Amino acid sequence: MAPSARPLAVVTGASAGLGRVFAQRLAAGGHDVLLVARDAGRLDALAAALNTAHGAACEPWPADLSRDADVDRLVGRLRGDERLAILVNNAGFGTTKALAKADPAGQEAMVRVHCLAPMRLTQAALPGMLARRRGTVINVSSVASFAGSPGNVNYCATKAYLRVFSETLALECAGRGVAVQALCPGFTYTEFHDRIAFDRGRIPAWLWMSAESVIDTSLAQAARGGKTVCIPGAKYKVIVWLLRNFSWVLAPLRGRHRRD
Ligand SMILES: NC(=O)c1ccc[n+]([C@@H]2O[C@H](COP(=O)([O-])OP(=O)(O)OC[C@H]3O[C@@H](n4cnc5c(N)ncnc54)[C@H](OP(=O)(O)O)[C@@H]3O)[C@@H](O)[C@H]2O)c1
Repeated sequence: MAPSARPLAVVTGASAGLGRVFAQRLAAGGHDVLLVARDAGRLDALAAALNTAHGAACEPWPADLSRDADVDRLVGRLRGDERLAILVNNAGFGTTKALAKADPAGQEAMVRVHCLAPMRLTQAALPGMLARRRGTVINVSSVASFAGSPGNVNYCATKAYLRVFSETLALECAGRGVAVQALCPGFTYTEFHDRIAFDRGRIPAWLWMSAESVIDTSLAQAARGGKTVCIPGAKYKVIVWLLRNFSWVLAPLRGRHRRD
């Protein structure tokens, strides 16, 4: 079979939620997609569906991004791939306990998956993108990156890392053909909250967004060369403005949800 001429997108966390929708939209838009996550069965099924629907050559790439060896292998795949056009660092998860009581291994895995893996994958992708003067890196951060919330110490801190990493990298890449986005969604319907047994009823219905609306906003903003920080939904733009400017007013409210 002749090698594919389609540009390549790499999406981590492609087996579910936001990553799955990223993969669907990018394949529909003419990309082959390297689908990265741990669940090989789900990646196989998604690759087959996307290839049939869009004539793409999407490839499942099972990997646990908390493991150095798996990240090394993916770094090797990204380096030197002339077709690499988009890297989406999306894989992530939540935890539920105060830091003093949380499982240390889970906290370390979070730092690895949310910070170390995206940093290493971005560093692997950049030289080729800069040489070709073409490429996009999307790092999935969160509204939580603006809001310290007890019970989520490392979640907020790692998402803040991803946002500041993206904002600063965007300055380095300005005028060189490579765009960087920090996508900062608020509460979105995916498997994220099921995995941590979070009761969605605790959050008012009007604050929830669909994964599709979040991804469409992200990709549209990236396509028009919009701002580095992407906050889908007008209500969340207001919330982030309040968090940035009146965090002292909101701090006691956030503390109410403390979980010891
Ligand atoms: N949903 C929200 O309300 C919300 C809001 C703001 C930001 N976010 C962020 O959005 C991103 C996507 O989350 P989601 O809402 O789509 O949740 P999701 O439906 O649970 O999907 C999470 C994805 O990450 C993958 N993943 C988790 N740990 C991994 C690991 N160690 N190695 C490789 N892949 C891993 C999962 O696949 P496997 O289990 O197959 O590995 C899955 O594909 C996350 O970074 C999350 O922090 C979500």
